[in-house]
Parts: sequence; C-alpha cells; structure tokens
Amino acid sequence: MDIRVIRASDIPHVQTANITNLPENYFCKYYLYHAQSWPQLSYVAVDVSRPPKSPYDPPKIVGYVLAKMEEDPADGIQHGHITSLSVMRTHRRLGLAEKLMRQSQRAMAETFGAHYVSLHVRVSNMAALKLYRDTLGFEVEKTESKYYADGEDAFSMRMDLSGLRQSMIDEDASDEDEGEPVGSMGKKDGGAAKSEADAKEKKRKVKVGRSLGVGELVEKNESQKA
Ligand SMILES: CC(C)(COP(=O)(O)OP(=O)(O)OC[C@H]1O[C@@H](n2cnc3c(N)ncnc32)[C@H](O)[C@@H]1OP(=O)(O)O)[C@@H](O)C(=O)NCCC(=O)NCCS
Repeated sequence: MDIRVIRASDIPHVQTANITNLPENYFCKYYLYHAQSWPQLSYVAVDVSRPPKSPYDPPKIVGYVLAKMEEDPADGIQHGHITSLSVMRTHRRLGLAEKLMRQSQRAMAETFGAHYVSLHVRVSNMAALKLYRDTLGFEVEKTESKYYADGEDAFSMRMDLSGLRQSMIDEDASDEDEGEPVGSMGKKDGGAAKSEADAKEKKRKVKVGRSLGVGELVEKNESQKA
C-alpha cells in the first residue's frame, strides 16, 4: 500500500471513493481547490499489490483524506480542517485511515504552523468516532445541532497539534547534532552563511487559500455543511 500526496489526476477516483463511502459529496472543483491551495495536506492510499497492466491504467485508490487550512479562522488561530476521509470497505481496519490522518496532521503543523486540527463527524458514526477520539486523540468540542443535510447532529472535534510541533522541533534539533560540519560548511564563514540561510529559510511565509487567487472556486456550501 502506498500513501502519497493527492494529484490532480487522482481526483475522479477520489470522488468515486467519496460517493461510495459517504453521503457528503463535492464538486470536482472543490477537490481541485484543496489540491491546489494546500497540496501538502491531502493524501491517497493506493493499492499497489497488482501493478498496472498499461501506463493508462488508473491507480487503485482505496482511501483518501481531503484536508485544508481554515481560511478565516473565527478564533484567529491558524488551524487545519479535515474536509473528508474515507477508506473502501475492502481495505478497512488495516490502519489506512489512521496513517492518512497522521500524514495530513503532520503536514499541517510542519508546513503551515497549524496549532490544531478540527473536523465534524456524525454523532452516530461510531467507527469514525473511535478512530478520531481513541486512536488519534481528538476531543469533542461541541455538538452542532442538525449540522448535516438530513438533520443529523455533528460533533465538532479538535486535536491540539502542539505536541506534534514540539516533537518536530526536537527532531530538527537532534538532526543538527549529527557531527561537526566538514569541508566548506565547516569553515567559520561558510557555517555562518549556512545558518543565516537556514534561518531565512525557516522564516519563509507561505501563501495559502484566497491569496492564491482561487477563492472563488470553493464550494461555500460544504454539501449543506458536510
Ligand atoms: C471511519 C473509517 C475512515 C476508518 O477507516 P479504517 O482505515 O478502517 O480505520 P483504521 O484501520 O485506521 O482504524 C484505526 C482505529 O479506528 C477504530 N476503528 C476503525 N473502524 C472501526 C470500526 N468499524 N469499529 C470500531 N472501531 C473502529 C479502531 O480503534 C481502529 O484501530 P484497530 O483496528 O487497531 O482497532 C472507515 O470506516 C470509513 O471509510 N467509513 C466510512 C466513511 C466515514 O465514515 N468517514 C468519516 C467521516 S467523518
């Protein structure tokens, strides 16, 4: 099984998986909007056990997570949001949803500095609730009455990403401890120039969402609030 970032060419197959598994469906352009605005955040699980017979064979997509950064966060805190997640019945309970979620959460924290990640889930969706709460560590923030088009309530859940952010900082620090710089990097001037370049690199701002000029593509109505 291969878990990789979504590509534009995957979108029809992701859409098929979404329609098969969930009542909340979206127009093609909404998937594209996610993939173009936050290309690091949405992933697919591809079954690679049977190699394609020809270069024209589509990838066998058996799961996906569609995620974004919240564009105008009401609380002013930079955070990610899971728009949709599903795994085909044939491939469930293999840990795919957990892996897809963790990949996306990591990218939210790493690439966009997300402080937390939010999502909505039907109050009756026990499998997803167990995944979010017990496996991943999400907490129920509130219940939103009649959130879904058919009148069902949603739990609004969120997971703090500060632990993840800290562990990534620790990983970076331990990477930097790996031996003394050698060659030109070991020279005083070269080293100083490198750390200055690194500092500049780390402070780089990343434009997201509307500033990319694709704001009008978003479906304002997330499948009647999906
Ligand atoms: C919810 C869903 C995405 C889970 O996908 P999955 O790949 O089977 O989940 P994982 O294998 O990663 O499961 C991780 C953990 O979640 C929990 N879990 C997942 N499915 C479960 C189920 N049917 N019943 C109880 N717990 C479940 C378990 O704790 C599981 O760990 P375990 O297998 O070690 O016990 C999948 O069932 C699905 O696509 N459902 C339909 C679409 C949907 O509801 N999406 C979520 C919308 S908010």
